[in-house]
Amino acid sequence: QPDMKLVVISNRGAPFDPNKPQTGGLAAALEPVVERSGALWMFSSENRGDGTERPLPLVKAGEGYVAKLDLPAAHHRGYYRDFSNSTLWPVLHSLSDRTSRAEEGYDSYRQMNNFIARAAFDLRDRDAFWVHDYHLLPLGGDLHNLGIERPTGFFLHTPWPTPDMIERVPNYRELMKSMLEYDLLGFQTNRDLNNFLACLRTYFGLEGKDGVVTTERGQTRLQKFPIGIDPRPFAEYLAAELSPAEQEKISSLLQNFEGAKFAIGVDRLDYTKGIDKRVEAFNQLLAAEPGSISLLQIAPSSRADVDEYRKYKEEVENAINHVNAEHGKEEWKPIHYTNDPFSQAALARLYRAAHVGVVTPLREGMNLVAKEYVAAQDPKDPGVLVLSKFAGAAEDFNEDEALLIDPNHPEEIATAISKAANMRLEERVMRWRSMMDKTESYTIHDWSADYLRELDKSRITVPANQ
Ligand code: G6P
Repeated sequence: QPDMKLVVISNRGAPFDPNKPQTGGLAAALEPVVERSGALWMFSSENRGDGTERPLPLVKAGEGYVAKLDLPAAHHRGYYRDFSNSTLWPVLHSLSDRTSRAEEGYDSYRQMNNFIARAAFDLRDRDAFWVHDYHLLPLGGDLHNLGIERPTGFFLHTPWPTPDMIERVPNYRELMKSMLEYDLLGFQTNRDLNNFLACLRTYFGLEGKDGVVTTERGQTRLQKFPIGIDPRPFAEYLAAELSPAEQEKISSLLQNFEGAKFAIGVDRLDYTKGIDKRVEAFNQLLAAEPGSISLLQIAPSSRADVDEYRKYKEEVENAINHVNAEHGKEEWKPIHYTNDPFSQAALARLYRAAHVGVVTPLREGMNLVAKEYVAAQDPKDPGVLVLSKFAGAAEDFNEDEALLIDPNHPEEIATAISKAANMRLEERVMRWRSMMDKTESYTIHDWSADYLRELDKSRITVPANQ
């Protein structure tokens, strides 16, 4: 990793406490990166401010620092609930039917990016800025407009869709143009990178050459950097002591599955995750093979102020109640469901106990649960991963490793779960070993080092017109 004084900026941050649950993949991924490097991570606090700019409060986090920002209350809804999560999120996942209030929030979104850029102005003398995710697409341009001339990079944790899909975002041209203000754009997979290049071609007539796009401003490099995890702590988590309350919670959960097979799903309660289709798969599977396997579905509530999320929660819960009523027996419940979040250490234990890991998003940037499930397995008796073809992780794990399925087809998921639950030890070990090797050979630290090496090159890039 290059020696640079780095600023990381995202909307969501991490708790920096192993006993506290993470909110989503971005926070889980960046926490170990910041802890190990001297980076300063600026993210939104839980408090709302009045928009007055204040000096950044720095708190030490391992080798790094955290600066929590009170985002202005006046623009928060428009920025977070409306534009980021009701418009951008569904379109980026190619689920435009879930888009609502498409026009709302854009002004607040722009204002919020501007506010964050001004807050970052204090840090203008650090070496580089690394911005994360769809909440902050135009931040690079805003940083430059303030006269900050350090290299700026962006990484998108979600997918990027095709040209006809991105068109459904109001102001998509302006947004894409502002993304070209970054020196480096990082994507999770080839599919996302190629979709972005297709959008540049379609809407701006720009061709990427050898991963570089040249505009009046200068050069933007585009590359894929598939995100990973740090697998080592998963071994440590298994030995770590849990808080008595959490220990009690997971012991009582695991009691339900003693001597029986179970699959595990761990997802934010989000319609992109395909939980409803997974539940329908269990419905079909249990009709064909009564009592064969149960499901532990951990689904912490997410973005509950967005209507689509409230609707989805209801849909999922109705489907689960139906399966439990239809296939349950007095002494056996097919689906155990909880909205409680768990720490990584508790999840590691649950992953290890489960015979099958089910990861069935309709579309997803990467999905780190797939990699965490692999990292937590017992090498001598590993479980099997059932994985959506449309998760970024399916570019890393192939069909000789995970059981790849189309998440839109419950019958396909059901067949894969049944196959996974009945797979012979030899095949399970072979599939798992190969996934574990990949998980260990490209960790989150390799990912950030690769990204930062690329970003560092911008420090010496000559402007295009010279
Ligand atoms: C996804 C997004 C992240 C986000 C996380 C949790 O992983 O890519 O940017 O932080 O979901 O969502 P939330 O809205 O709670 O931050």
